[in-house]
Amino acid sequence: MRHFYSLNEFSSEQIGEFVNRALAFKENPYSEVLDHRQIALLFLNQSLRTRCSFEVATRELGGDVSTLDAETLFALETEFGKRMDGASAEHVKEAIGVFSRYFSALGLRSFARGEDQQEDLLDKTFTTFLEHAKIPVFNMESALYHPCQALADLVTIKELFQDFQGRKVTITWANHPRALPMAVTNSALLAMTKMGMHVTLAHPEKFELQEGIMNMAGDFAGESGGSVEVVHDRLEAAADADVVYAKSWGSLLRYDDPAAEQDLRDSLKDWVVDSEMMSRTRRAYFMHCLPVRRNVVVNDDVIDSNRSVVLQEAENRLHAQKAILEWIFS
Ligand code: CP
Repeated sequence: MRHFYSLNEFSSEQIGEFVNRALAFKENPYSEVLDHRQIALLFLNQSLRTRCSFEVATRELGGDVSTLDAETLFALETEFGKRMDGASAEHVKEAIGVFSRYFSALGLRSFARGEDQQEDLLDKTFTTFLEHAKIPVFNMESALYHPCQALADLVTIKELFQDFQGRKVTITWANHPRALPMAVTNSALLAMTKMGMHVTLAHPEKFELQEGIMNMAGDFAGESGGSVEVVHDRLEAAADADVVYAKSWGSLLRYDDPAAEQDLRDSLKDWVVDSEMMSRTRRAYFMHCLPVRRNVVVNDDVIDSNRSVVLQEAENRLHAQKAILEWIFS
């Protein structure tokens, strides 16, 4: 049984093979690899791209799909040994047991809740599903990782540059009215360092990623010939970049003092990708996973320019996820 949790568990050669399979599916979209299998997509959080791209991918691979969201299900309990006399009416253990009786695989989206750092660090909801599933579970964005997005981003970079080794990517924090999860940034950073890219991570002080993620990125860069550095000046970070990859995330301060975290973010409204930042680059492409807040995260003239590849990234979700579904059942 093959779960798909993060790209970290794969070698760079295996990831390269996923990228090649995704590009092959882009050329030839249809296959019968799912052979009438039933796939469940469970969204505990909102989605446009992940939901639509997995629905289309499943159907184009000869399977069928049921999409479920938190609003239409009983509230799920993830604690064990608890007297369930509160809001939660169904335990995740029974829920995944039932899914396992009807479906051949389950996709799960379970964002970080941003309340308990330990719970988010352990990716508790996702790993509880994994532990009790009798069918493959694939990650449609958990508290820690968004591997489908990272794979689609690699597919896009391969299309743009034909190779990964030695390319410079600036992953830049951007302002946002809400303290968003770190999963997209974690997965992008780890995938890019694994593939030998030089990553400059730009963020204001107090917006550090978790130490374990940074250590892993350093290890991956050491093995691949890539590099990772952290810079607190957004314009300096953009120098000579081939790609500017923008993402917002909340400070770890959110777990101890949410009001102070909000005040800090509100004071950083100049962290927007603008034409001045792009002018420091080597005519970089602009990437973002979407959804994006225009003129908060990125200015109109950047996202509307011919160097913006955000829709190419979104399309590549479809092709990348076909490669993942094919791997799960091969
Ligand atoms: N990028 C991404 O995962 O988009 P959705 O949240 O719309 O699925």
